[in-house]
Amino acid sequence: MKRMTILLGGLMTGALFAFPAAAEMIHLMARKGDVEKVLAEIEKGVPVDLPSTLHTTVPGVSPLSVAAQFGRTDVVIALLEKGADPDFNRPAEVMEGDNDVLGAPIHEAARNGHAEIVQLLIDAGANPTLEDPGLGTPLHQARRWDHAEAAGILLANGAEETVQAPSIEPLLALADTANGQKLANGCGLCHSLETGSTDIITGPSLWGIVGRKIGEVDAFEYSDVMASRGGTWDYDALNSLLASPTAYMPGTKMEISGVSTPEARADLIAYLRTLQ
Ligand code: HEC
Repeated sequence: MKRMTILLGGLMTGALFAFPAAAEMIHLMARKGDVEKVLAEIEKGVPVDLPSTLHTTVPGVSPLSVAAQFGRTDVVIALLEKGADPDFNRPAEVMEGDNDVLGAPIHEAARNGHAEIVQLLIDAGANPTLEDPGLGTPLHQARRWDHAEAAGILLANGAEETVQAPSIEPLLALADTANGQKLANGCGLCHSLETGSTDIITGPSLWGIVGRKIGEVDAFEYSDVMASRGGTWDYDALNSLLASPTAYMPGTKMEISGVSTPEARADLIAYLRTLQ
């Protein structure tokens, strides 16, 4: 009886530890670029898209994301041949607002400038415009980290230089400025909203922003996309920026997910209009 219990205990411990160990192995080998060992894991029955558990900051990405991050072209090819999902991403519950984690394979390839892998993923059916609530689009990642070749491939395959939000001008007449002021507290983390201010926090002051030239504060070092866009912050431009900064200006340093409802954006813009 005693022996039986020990045997069962041993089996259970084995079962408990076998899975995480295997999960670590395929991810570690993908990271190392060891194609043989990655294939050996798959041979053993480890699913090709097994989500990461222990070694990434946030669990849930596939070995393909890890291989794409580290530029392991041979592993990427092998995983895709084995049927890996080119758009596999971490689950929605760990995505929201998190821009400091691993994303889908194409985000990792773009962010780290592995242009050849970006192309391989697209050829395998990856979506070049895949939106990630924390990381934005692949084009945003490529631009943000100055990877022109990867950005070029994305643009050649359907990524959009800019995404405009539908106009909210009709909503402005009904806007609630007091609510806009409340919403602007979030902006105040990075922007001064003080009367006449030219202070830079993380971003330039928003005093006088409505009608101001885009990227005009000399003392602030804008991203290339914001510095070179041209034009002025009229209602449409502000609305599009606020709907999704990274979709409107891929490569921007303003990496927030955006203000999702048109009503909230109208309230916010109505408040910004008072800052002059
Ligand atoms: C996490 C910090 C952060 C938050 C929060 C933030 N911004 Fe920004 N914002 C920036 C940065 C950084 C830039 C410069 C972007 C660049 O150079 O690409 C910027 C640029 C801008 C610009 C263009 C300024 C110019 O001089 O052309 C506007 C308009 C703007 N933000 C509005 C807002 C509003 C409105 C909010 C609140 C909904 C907000 N931002 C929230 C960081 C932030």
